[in-house]
Amino acid sequence: MSGLLAGKRLLVTGVITDASIAFSVAKLAQENGAQVVLSGYGRLSLVERIAKRLPEPAPVIELDVTSEEHLAGLADKVREHVDGLDGVVHSIGFAPQSCLGGGFLDAPWADVATALQVSTYSYKSLAMAALPLMSSGGAVVGLTFDATKAWPVYDWMGVAKAGLESASRYLALHLGKQGIRSNLVAAGPLRTIAAKSIPGFDQFEDAWTERAPLGWSLTDQEPAARACLALLSDWFPATTGEIVHVDGGYHAIGA
Ligand SMILES: NC(=O)c1ccc[n+]([C@@H]2O[C@H](COP(=O)([O-])OP(=O)(O)OC[C@H]3O[C@@H](n4cnc5c(N)ncnc54)[C@H](O)[C@@H]3O)[C@@H](O)[C@H]2O)c1
Repeated sequence: MSGLLAGKRLLVTGVITDASIAFSVAKLAQENGAQVVLSGYGRLSLVERIAKRLPEPAPVIELDVTSEEHLAGLADKVREHVDGLDGVVHSIGFAPQSCLGGGFLDAPWADVATALQVSTYSYKSLAMAALPLMSSGGAVVGLTFDATKAWPVYDWMGVAKAGLESASRYLALHLGKQGIRSNLVAAGPLRTIAAKSIPGFDQFEDAWTERAPLGWSLTDQEPAARACLALLSDWFPATTGEIVHVDGGYHAIGA
């Protein structure tokens, strides 16, 4: 098998439609030699149907990152398909409606707690659940939306992403000795289910379309997926705790 990820065994979370960033990661990873196991949340039959659209139909295991039971059983379920893991992709985010669209000042703690558990804490939970399968080291890669700024309408999801960015650095700190790297891709706005759940998301779309120095496609997940592949590959062996922007250069300008 040839390709950037030849021989790598990956767990890819977060596929819900073929527009999911995770779907592009899984597709490109298979095309580049990786063996992929998917995890799905909620409508598992839907995820299984989407999994059949990959170049190689991928097995799907159930994982709700807020379920201690699912996390505890993850390694054994993955082992039914592969004998270990070289990489884990965290492509998971959720915030209740109260936390988005301008609701920052009024969102109740219970809703904020849900956003943080699913979108931030789960990065660590997922990595720890997969750790027994990563005895030879490997890579954990997640997706963020540049959390160095307060964006309109992103609200508590922005706080969750700031936490995710920090959690990735702490994971890098704590798992580095075991040869495990932790890096994030900061993607520009992409039309996925998660994005559509954000009221006012079109503001991002307009800003990126008008101002990203390289231009930006709202429907092309491949640039973000390619960066994930690079970080999962052997070509970033000494990079951890890093955030790679895949946003057409938007983060670099002052407009
Ligand atoms: N779409 C964008 O504009 C954009 C930009 C930057 C970063 N991101 C991030 O990319 C990641 C993937 O999102 P996407 O845009 O592909 O949208 P998506 O809706 O396709 O994927 C989000 C995934 O999160 C999963 N999920 C939600 N709650 C879960 C839970 N409790 N347990 C397990 N999985 C759960 C959903 O099932 C879904 O598959 C998210 O972290 C998102 O914040 C998205």
